[in-house]
Amino acid sequence: MDLDRLEERLAEAGQSHLLRFWDQLSPEEQAELAHELEGMNFIEINTFFKNAVATSGQAKQEQVDSRMEPLPREVLGSVTRDRESLKEWEAEGLRCISQNKVAVLLLAGGQGTRLGVSYPKGMYDVGLPSHKTLFQLQAERILRLEQLVEQQQHVNQCCIPWYIMTSGRTMESTKEFFSKHKYFGLKEENVIFFQQGMLPAMDFSGKIILESKGKLSLAPDGNGGLYRALGKHKIVEDMERRGIAYVHVYCVDNILVKVADPAFIGLCLLKGADCGAKVVEKTNPTETVGVVCKVSGHYQVVEYSEITLATAEKRSTDGRLMFNAANLANHFFSLPYLKDVINAYEPQLLYHVAQKKIPYVDTQGQLINPDKPNGIKMEKFVFDIFQFAKFVVYEVLREDEFAPLKKADSQDGKDNPTTARHALMSLHHRWVLNAGGHFIDENGTRLPAIPRRGPAGAHSHDDSQNLKDGMDLQIKCEISPLVSYGGEGLEKLVHGREFQPTLIIDESGIHENVKNGL
Ligand code: UTP
Repeated sequence: MDLDRLEERLAEAGQSHLLRFWDQLSPEEQAELAHELEGMNFIEINTFFKNAVATSGQAKQEQVDSRMEPLPREVLGSVTRDRESLKEWEAEGLRCISQNKVAVLLLAGGQGTRLGVSYPKGMYDVGLPSHKTLFQLQAERILRLEQLVEQQQHVNQCCIPWYIMTSGRTMESTKEFFSKHKYFGLKEENVIFFQQGMLPAMDFSGKIILESKGKLSLAPDGNGGLYRALGKHKIVEDMERRGIAYVHVYCVDNILVKVADPAFIGLCLLKGADCGAKVVEKTNPTETVGVVCKVSGHYQVVEYSEITLATAEKRSTDGRLMFNAANLANHFFSLPYLKDVINAYEPQLLYHVAQKKIPYVDTQGQLINPDKPNGIKMEKFVFDIFQFAKFVVYEVLREDEFAPLKKADSQDGKDNPTTARHALMSLHHRWVLNAGGHFIDENGTRLPAIPRRGPAGAHSHDDSQNLKDGMDLQIKCEISPLVSYGGEGLEKLVHGREFQPTLIIDESGIHENVKNGL
């Protein structure tokens, strides 16, 4: 280690304070800190900071608001408005998957701070009767889709490789979890892990924050760190070796995610798109989601914090919100486009700034947990590259496809383990009803298809109470992804039959009246 050289580099970058406690560190801690600092490009980090700060803030809101345009109908495919085309899209997607040209890519490098667990979010058990984790549900959907394709398209072996992006904080535990669970039945060589980069948190003046005397405060560089990571780890080359031509990218936290959704892939293929985004309808102007729209003629996601209420409330002539395409961070890419993004477009993307409360050591070496934001984290977003693409938007139903797990149950009643579990069981309940099955109570009386809220159908004006009643009265039903990917194949199992919940249908059979999980 060349300490003098390191000191010089830090002084040039205005980051000398990072060695403030050097003499108080053990030799191991010194070696670790020096190793970390030597690997960092401070000039680049300072530039990221300057640019990110310069482009954030109030001025941007006004600018974006006045330049926003709704999505043109010709780039939009909708599950509800284009029902007649669905079969064609699905067939095209299945055909492409059967040629082993499609891979899925999971964004799992986030820290899950709002959920508040110390392990990767994909390992979370939301309390389904089976107690399957998010990772397991996704793995089983891949397996089932491969099977479906083999049966329907009469191919010998369908393979959908699964690329999993982790971060420095989630890599080891994620790999261990997969290995412990034998890759949930997938072939180990078809599950490929790679790691995204980390960036330091900085105070408002651009100084890197120390989280302890010998450790920088580091965080993953956002889900848009994907593109740098793909380049660094030569993932596209791996995809090319496998003959992959299209990639479905999605987030770990959506319990309903349809991995490698054939209809989405088919729609993008038939429209000749380089890139696609799946959206659900935003129905409430104040919902805290980004919307896909055009800004000065270019497609992009505009965050809810970047627009005024007046813009959020604008409606089209059909009465829908004008900016109603809520972004799910669920995307389609052609491989050539992904390569262009990595090589040409990613370096042009600016970091987004999030002001955060970041624990730090003060000049005395005391650990401080601030009660208001004291610094920023910088992140790139996966969806910042639409502007360069031939682009398509696919609108799907929220109740069928989107229920993210963001927060713990103790926080407000949205996007938590209870709502995620509820969403999955409610979908599976509908699958059974639509396939001709029925549910009965312990006396053999048929249960209503729409669970009543409150006694004798009474309706509370308190939303959270209604939600709670809905949860309590929910019919507990879980269908293994190994049995059905999207509701298919259930008639032969349930048509004309009555079931007492909790109902579990899995590869070992039908289990009724299950009390405490299998
Ligand atoms: P979120 O932005 O919701 O973040 O991620 P998060 O890390 O899950 O949770 P909080 O904000 O700390 O509470 C959306 C998706 O992007 C991935 C996450 O793993 C999730 O699938 N992500 C996020 C990354 O892969 N890398 C990142 O740096 C950030």
